[in-house]
Amino acid sequence: MASSTGEASNDKEVGSDLRKKREDFEFGKILGEGSYSTVLLATDKVSKKLYAMKILSKHHIVKEKKVPYVKREKDVLVKINHPFFVKLFFTFQDKENLYYGLSLAEKGEILDYIRRVGSFDEHGSQFYSAEIILALEYLHSLDIIHRDLKPENILLNNEMHIQITDFGTAKILEDGEERANSFVGTAEYVSPELLQSKVAYKSSDIWALGCILYQLLSGRPPFHAPNEYLCFQKITKLEYMFPDGFPDHAKDLISKILILAPDKRIGCEQMGGYQPLKTHKFYTGIDWAKLPETQPPQILPYLPAKSKDDQALTSDYNIMNDRPLSDDFDERFLSAFGLGDPDNPLKSSSSASITSNRETKLERQAKESPWHQFVNNELIVKSGLVDKRKGLFSKRRQLILTDAPRLYYVDPVAMELKGEIPWNHRMHVELKNWRIFFVHTPDRTYYLDDPTGHSQQWVNTITEWIERARSS
Ligand code: ADE
Repeated sequence: MASSTGEASNDKEVGSDLRKKREDFEFGKILGEGSYSTVLLATDKVSKKLYAMKILSKHHIVKEKKVPYVKREKDVLVKINHPFFVKLFFTFQDKENLYYGLSLAEKGEILDYIRRVGSFDEHGSQFYSAEIILALEYLHSLDIIHRDLKPENILLNNEMHIQITDFGTAKILEDGEERANSFVGTAEYVSPELLQSKVAYKSSDIWALGCILYQLLSGRPPFHAPNEYLCFQKITKLEYMFPDGFPDHAKDLISKILILAPDKRIGCEQMGGYQPLKTHKFYTGIDWAKLPETQPPQILPYLPAKSKDDQALTSDYNIMNDRPLSDDFDERFLSAFGLGDPDNPLKSSSSASITSNRETKLERQAKESPWHQFVNNELIVKSGLVDKRKGLFSKRRQLILTDAPRLYYVDPVAMELKGEIPWNHRMHVELKNWRIFFVHTPDRTYYLDDPTGHSQQWVNTITEWIERARSS
């Protein structure tokens, strides 16, 4: 696999390299920030090679008692030589800082991609979890436990292969040692043995893999809670469920990984090592030996049908002519929520006529619309309930389009503003079927389901306002 820096792995020069110094590099944007380090894009002024330069403040490290972690990270990075991990090319220091010259993972965190598309389709989830498995198999063969594997630490290089990073909390097992006394990693991916006995095994990383695979397919980690305490409680009670539409083979695999006893998880040494994991039905078709050279699949969202009258959204089949709901359902639905006409004061007007009588309309809106409080005194052009899908989960929201134009969404039960689809001149709207429409923004696609079956109206109105905003 081509390295982003253009250096072959055997060129790797590790150790304190007196020839390199801060002045040899031009520093660019911040790639990442940790509690005691910053990663900057760095260009070698002579060779023009790009690196991710991790800079650690000596004063800060000593003050925060992080010296062992910093040493650990270097010790681990020096040992690793595998295409699915970031490489350490050189280190140097000056009076203030330590510098680690790492391979640049141009495409950033896999977490960003999960957020952008909601969740990965089966093929993408299979491919990326398979890469993680190969990486863990290698790491564990060196007797190293990562201990903080999570989507933020799984970066992607220019070819869209994984590059696992962040070894500050990794543990190198001594001769014959099977477990590490442990620090506790990130709440949602932490294993039950870490919480209960404060020990980590290699299979604690496999637990994290199970959580990540679940998240790739559904958009959320399995043990998701409003705070760490509740999250830990869910983990120790193995309290998780598979949402509708979760693929069967993946379900089977995840339920063989997310097992409380670390020595009963598929993939662990006591269960026959990596072979049973790699030959699980979910990985049918994966050529493990060729994975680093395999072209990664395009990242596509996983949007299976949610009910029997709902089409799988990835299909191109359009069911616009097959409306099971009567035309007046929208009205009845809205009035059941006490939301009649004032909610859509401009329903029958074209955007051209909206500016006329704006003040009068605003006055009426302020008096009559329950949504007025959320829209910064902008005029509501259209509003209605939608299910906002993220991966396999969805939340009911009041979607509100104003003449700013802006698109707000509100929790209609708590009557709380939950957020906004950031308006952007490059955004566009796509009609999928009579219920489903997508709002594509440069950073993310929003999957929206109008349960009343009037997605076409949303698409028309939002498109009209996008064009209007573009031409003004
Ligand atoms: N952020 C942290 N480490 C990184 C790396 N090696 N490449 C790109 N972004 C990063």
